[in-house]
Amino acid sequence: MGEHKELVIGLFGFGVVGEGLYKVLQQTPSLKATIKQVCIKHPGKTRNAPEELFTTNRDALLNDPAINLIVEVIDDAIAGFEIVSTALKNGKDVVSSSKKMIAENLPALLELQQKTGRSLLYESSACASIPVVRNLEEYYDNDLLHSIRAIVNGSTNFILTKIFEENLSFKDALLLAQQLGFAESDPTLDVEGFDALNKWTILLLHAYGIVAHPEHILFNGIQNIAKSDALVAKARGQQIKLVAQAKKLINGGVGAYVLPQFVNADSPLSFVKNEYNGVVIESGFADQQFFYGKGAGSFPTASAVLSDISALRYEYRYEYKKLYHHKPHQLNDAIYLKVFVSFTELANIPKEDFEWIEEWHAQESRKYLSGVIALQKLKQNMWWKENGTSLIVEADGIIEDIEERKLKKKSLELAGLL
Ligand code: HSE
Repeated sequence: MGEHKELVIGLFGFGVVGEGLYKVLQQTPSLKATIKQVCIKHPGKTRNAPEELFTTNRDALLNDPAINLIVEVIDDAIAGFEIVSTALKNGKDVVSSSKKMIAENLPALLELQQKTGRSLLYESSACASIPVVRNLEEYYDNDLLHSIRAIVNGSTNFILTKIFEENLSFKDALLLAQQLGFAESDPTLDVEGFDALNKWTILLLHAYGIVAHPEHILFNGIQNIAKSDALVAKARGQQIKLVAQAKKLINGGVGAYVLPQFVNADSPLSFVKNEYNGVVIESGFADQQFFYGKGAGSFPTASAVLSDISALRYEYRYEYKKLYHHKPHQLNDAIYLKVFVSFTELANIPKEDFEWIEEWHAQESRKYLSGVIALQKLKQNMWWKENGTSLIVEADGIIEDIEERKLKKKSLELAGLL
């Protein structure tokens, strides 16, 4: 049997994840990984670890030749990128959980890994405890992965569960998510969909070899979902979830978005409650598979960091096979979405943007419509994020055969059936 590499860790950050990792490592002595020093921002705080472990001098870790692994779990994307890139350049392997930093710097991080030959692992950055990055990376060949559909943010799923199933107010549910250590320090990142978007950017790379900037993906959070939307969902036997979607399209490329979506009762995602995450994969021959687990919180996130640390004993690295060894896919925005929109003022809805509108209810104080709209139109014009308007994708929301549907509609109209 080969010798395992002895790991000496320099840890950046001692918040929810950092402290969780510290405790988890104490319970796994067999791993032969020790934390030599922890770099923190605020020295005054009381921490549950010996004082001599801590420093505020990042170079003490980055330039220490005895440290061969940097674990970066801070929530400042700019500082995080500096730390991670310096560590790689200094010949150290890196484990990071900073999804925002990773998603916003994918090209630079890919280049750094190639140049330095060091390994950067970030399993905990998406879906925390669910080993989805390594699974997408290792198991699913490019051509087999038809679609992936997921709940990737624990806090918003927690909030939706608490307000719609336990009648908590949005404010109280968010406060609870913060107290339990699920939410980001700036919770608008969760609530307005940025965190899910960052995770989806990372997973698109490992699922399809797509190097996208988060800015290029259509997204929203749950900030505008109204109680009345939940009542509509209930009446239809559905739920509303913040869903990240990617689908290989008939015409080539991959359609992707992160938006609130109705989920049918028989969908595996409807079982995903509270801070749990879930990933549904449709693949060529295996059909449907479902990954489920805690998507936020100290120990679940630390468990994924621990697994990355453990993988580094065997010098594991992502090969980015779908990017470098296959023909990578591209994002394709030429899709149409079937959406439900609820609003207070008709004047705020650009009817002309829709391909067609199937249903209107304009009498009540909260009005709504169902219709079909181009994803590109939603990207161009943000009316659907403003004035308290709420847009929710229908369960079978992606429409690829728009021309056929238009023709069918036309012939039904001509026959007087519509
Ligand atoms: N704020 C994140 C979430 C933490 O709620 O999913 C885990 O990445």
